[in-house]
Amino acid sequence: MSFENTLSTPETTTTTVPTRTAHHRRYLMCKPSHFTVNYSINPWMEPSKPTDTANAVAQWQKLHDLYLELGHDVELIEPLAGFPDMVYTANGGFLIDGRAYVPKFRFVERQGESPAFADWFRAAGYDTVIPEEVNEGEGDFLLVGDIILAGTGFRSTGDSHREVGEVFGREVVSLNLVDPRFYHLDTAIAVLDPVQGTENGGPERANIAYLPGAFDDASRAILEERFPDAILVSDEDGSVFGLNSASDGYNVVISPRAKGFDQQLRDRGYNPIMVDLSELLLGGGGIKCCTLELRGAK
Ligand code: ARG
Repeated sequence: MSFENTLSTPETTTTTVPTRTAHHRRYLMCKPSHFTVNYSINPWMEPSKPTDTANAVAQWQKLHDLYLELGHDVELIEPLAGFPDMVYTANGGFLIDGRAYVPKFRFVERQGESPAFADWFRAAGYDTVIPEEVNEGEGDFLLVGDIILAGTGFRSTGDSHREVGEVFGREVVSLNLVDPRFYHLDTAIAVLDPVQGTENGGPERANIAYLPGAFDDASRAILEERFPDAILVSDEDGSVFGLNSASDGYNVVISPRAKGFDQQLRDRGYNPIMVDLSELLLGGGGIKCCTLELRGAK
């Protein structure tokens, strides 16, 4: 290439967008056949606002079908009448290496879901651990590389962080949530690359996106130190549950309400796909809330 040609090459062509790899996932979902909002345990839930169960089912079905199109497996748990929040299966457990840590819900309204999830895990062959401490499963526990990021402040207790660490024999990093709108960790952090791998021949770090304002100063400092390459989302995108998304390492299913997150993802080589769960947002949940990862089933 001549000197002149080099000069005429726009500088942007030298910016490398990493190549991402989609990893196969196995998810547990629950059809929102009984969805409604008839109690309030988070600031999004207003029982006086009407809900449309058929719309909830239709929106949920799109997410379900998309996962299948992406080549993932989706298992289903039978929805229980009287438990309208059961659609949010992320709270149904936390599973690694064929072991399932069952939730102990903070609010009585959801406590009847735990035995149903425990039964499902047992029937599926998981080594099923009944907890002593209050915890809300993958809503507050996120596996990132080898470590567990664990949220507290609204639902899961600090004691559950110790317990989950003992159950799985992994390092747990506790993070304090401070904004009641982001009451579960999965509303404030999205895990983008949960596994270590290689990227363009070089080392790839497990990476996340997060909403800085959802955390106290100490937790923000931990996130900055551990994840210097993280995507920081805007308050606008955070406030519409933009982070409540599901990534397979390449495809990231996000809310169409998020306005800047999709471009941030594209810039990093991810493929954002929009799915609107507006009806389920009335219960204070989004894409990730409706998705529990079944890791290492036997
Ligand atoms: N209404 C449910 C609750 O307040 C929503 C749960 C959302 N789940 C989640 N993983 N963030 O418990």
